[in-house]
Amino acid sequence: MLDEILSYHRYMTEALLLVMLLNTVVPSLLKHNIEKMIFWTRIGYFAFWMFWSMNIFAGLIVFMFTGRALTSSVWSMIAVSVLLGVIEAYRAIQIRKLWMRGLDAGRFSLVMLGLEILLLVMVSLFAVQV
Ligand code: HEM
Repeated sequence: MLDEILSYHRYMTEALLLVMLLNTVVPSLLKHNIEKMIFWTRIGYFAFWMFWSMNIFAGLIVFMFTGRALTSSVWSMIAVSVLLGVIEAYRAIQIRKLWMRGLDAGRFSLVMLGLEILLLVMVSLFAVQV
């Protein structure tokens, strides 16, 4: 049972990574059609928050039911979860501001997503090793 919850936590991490990767690709593929680009960017925000919250929820369940200690890997996962939320919210706010000024937000969005992906991969490698 606990193994299943831990696997679920890992699947949610993988799903979150997949959403982030899609968010780097899909809007730039739709650059020629502004309406579609805005629509899919918004779907991307929604998918991020969905998997982000399910991942945190699964992590909390693992933590509570396994009675594991607050090790450095768990602390780093909590810190990265908060950081990911802050970066994603900042990304969405800035993209909106850039769009309202008629500017291209593609490069800014890519940098933010790159940072998110890097953090997620690093904390996952750390969690698996420790
Ligand atoms: C960005 C957020 C997070 C990522 C990427 C992440 C990733 C991972 C990964 C890859 C594992 C190893 C899974 C395995 O061994 O199969 C893991 C284990 C675990 N995670 Fe997370 N996690 C995140 C957030 C959280 C949160 C918010 C909590 C809540 C306290 C949490 C609690 C745990 C616990 C207790 C384990 C088991 C650690 C152990 O085996 O000692 N995680 N996580």
